Amino acid sequence: MPLSNKKALPGSEGELVQKVRERFKKLFKEEPLLVRSPGRVNLIGEHTDYNEGFVLPAAVDKAIYFAVTPRTDGRGSLVAHDLGQDHEFELDRLIKSDKRWPNYLLGVVDQLQKKGCKVGGFNCVFGGDIPIGSGMSSSAAIEAGLAYALNRIFGLGLDSLTLVKLAQKAENEFVGVRCGIMDQFINIFGRPKSVLKIDCRSLEYQYFPFERTDLRVVLCDTLVKRELASSEYNVRRGQCEAGVKLLSKYEPGLKSLRDVSGELLEAHRQEFDPIIYKRCDYVVRENRRVGEACADLKNNDFASFGRRMNGSHDGLRDDYQVSCRELDVLVDAAREVKGVLGARMMGAGFGGCTINLVEEKAAEEFKEKVAKAYKDQFGKEPKIFTSSLRSGTEFI
Ligand code: GLA
Repeated sequence: MPLSNKKALPGSEGELVQKVRERFKKLFKEEPLLVRSPGRVNLIGEHTDYNEGFVLPAAVDKAIYFAVTPRTDGRGSLVAHDLGQDHEFELDRLIKSDKRWPNYLLGVVDQLQKKGCKVGGFNCVFGGDIPIGSGMSSSAAIEAGLAYALNRIFGLGLDSLTLVKLAQKAENEFVGVRCGIMDQFINIFGRPKSVLKIDCRSLEYQYFPFERTDLRVVLCDTLVKRELASSEYNVRRGQCEAGVKLLSKYEPGLKSLRDVSGELLEAHRQEFDPIIYKRCDYVVRENRRVGEACADLKNNDFASFGRRMNGSHDGLRDDYQVSCRELDVLVDAAREVKGVLGARMMGAGFGGCTINLVEEKAAEEFKEKVAKAYKDQFGKEPKIFTSSLRSGTEFI
């Protein structure tokens, strides 16, 4: 069976793949298996996945490309093309690297080994155009993309959901970020022109067409390095768990904020530390918003959908407190433009991108006004680009 389907990719994507492939061939003198592993956007449902709630992400055109072949000496060679760095490892001695990026890959090997999979050594070159630290989940693209490739070259026969879960565990255990399942899930399950509603408890999912020629999904990257993202992320998780612990005294079956209604939370408000209350209140409301936003999609009501995106940002800013000045300035400027249906921060927060639902005819004015507002405040331009919704990880 051929290792690759040789799918032609458009313009710049094709060039990125060729660069990775050429580098691989130069270094390892053989033809590799090629995999495209996309970044993601999330339309609504932020910080809900680890509360066993609902999310609505989509895979996008920005991606990491992998070139991989097996080897037989029990060793591995990893090359980060864009960083110009490499890392060697031995299969039977996986050690965390201070360089950080190898840990996303080694974590996958570690998980495969823990599952008892017969995974051998391999050569791997990867690179792409998902901006790092932008909240588009380059980390999940690296983890899930490698898991997908190794599954194939070693004939492991793992199904998609198993790949998702082990890629998430790689990040939880080897990288040390207690991320939820959204990013790895959409990386593997994404479909063109669709968003995916994921129930992060049952892992049931449903695709919704998300395509209107008169609307665009526009991302604005603050270019702020998300220093706080992983530490504060783990703090937020702890705060949610504290809320669950308090409420489970009254509802013994209660396992996560997914099980909490607005009424239950309100009834015990006085017993809460005010910060914990705000965190829980946001999550309960955001879960509800995802359901309502999906109903909007069924009704083809994108104006209402956009208003829920706005509600999501306001909660993330005021109650969950994971936004930052730069994100807020971008969101406020976006909302001033007629034809912007919704604007919110996206991902873990403290930097990264905003996601905006913009009428096609307002797109140019949007770019100009938002870039100007940002430059006036911070003396630099944000990166603004349109995202198209694409397939999840695939061979190319
Ligand atoms: C990061 C995590 C996800 C999710 C988002 C916030 O992207 O990897 O699991 O929790 O933050 O919604």
